[in-house]
Amino acid sequence: MKNKFNKDYKKISRRAGRRLKTVLVAGLMCLCVLTGCGKKPEQPEPKLLLGFSQVGSESAWRIGNTQDIEDKADLYGVSLMLENANQKQENQIAAIRRFIAYRVDVIAFSPIVEEGWDNVLLEAKQAGIPVILVDRDIHTETEGLTQCLIGADFYKEGVMAAEYLIRKADSLEMEHVNIVEITGTENSTPMRQRRAGFMDTIENDSRMEVIESVNGDFLKSRGAECMRSLLQKYGSDIDVVFSHNDEMTLGALPEIERAGFTPGTDMIIISIDGGQEAINVLRSGKINCVVECTPMLGSVLMETALKLKNGETVDEEIHPEEGFFSDEMELGDLAPRGY
Ligand code: AHR
Repeated sequence: MKNKFNKDYKKISRRAGRRLKTVLVAGLMCLCVLTGCGKKPEQPEPKLLLGFSQVGSESAWRIGNTQDIEDKADLYGVSLMLENANQKQENQIAAIRRFIAYRVDVIAFSPIVEEGWDNVLLEAKQAGIPVILVDRDIHTETEGLTQCLIGADFYKEGVMAAEYLIRKADSLEMEHVNIVEITGTENSTPMRQRRAGFMDTIENDSRMEVIESVNGDFLKSRGAECMRSLLQKYGSDIDVVFSHNDEMTLGALPEIERAGFTPGTDMIIISIDGGQEAINVLRSGKINCVVECTPMLGSVLMETALKLKNGETVDEEIHPEEGFFSDEMELGDLAPRGY
């Protein structure tokens, strides 16, 4: 009797335990449905879809610029469609057409050259998509195809390079100064404006003579080629190398050394950008002056694009503050450049 009672009791309590488990699991499932547990956490809606066409990856400056734009898009909650044009205008035009077809909120691009944008930008305007120029400017026949330009004052950079040279020539008591210029991409804004600022500033100094300008396309390999041919032509007659970016300068320096000259001493070397590698070489004495051109344009780009999406007005031109670094300065405590 006792045993039977125990058996029945155990059966009943096992059944009750199973029922309790079922109730608990069902309750938990209801809770999950109600609270959404088990689902992926809700992603906040991106505030903006931005299409950006980058020139390419020709320099440390450009790579730093792309990285900064990607980082700042994340920071500002902007969804970025980034396309690299590999130095080809037709690739940039095709990318802009894809952005239009995709109905992005805002288009931004760094135009490789200044001309040839009318048609595609008219298409963007007809689609009602605002356009921001990043880094470089354009010339169009129709007015009002872009909303604003965010980028360096390249003319001022050319002026700073020339002003340094005039001070250096004074300090060395030079009577005549033979300059070779290695320029950036033909018909690009930095190439045109850096040259204009430099030429306008040396114009009234009768010591200064640009003996040749060659196109180095902002590339290290081209900088080396250009320098080799300039050295073959002019050799020790070259007093100054004015190079439109660090990449070409870094390509030119080994050629100068191979030809038996000490850059920074036998020839004055002036560069533009101010990337870490060039600053290190400036510290070692092989570059005399580096004019700063900052690639950190991402924050301003995101803020401007968000304003345009919200229908707010924006400044037509936004230039970052820039300076220069030279052998006239103590550069010991300069912060890492980040590009
Ligand atoms: O447009 C900015 C220029 O383009 C930078 O000086 C150069 O390094 C880059 O490729």
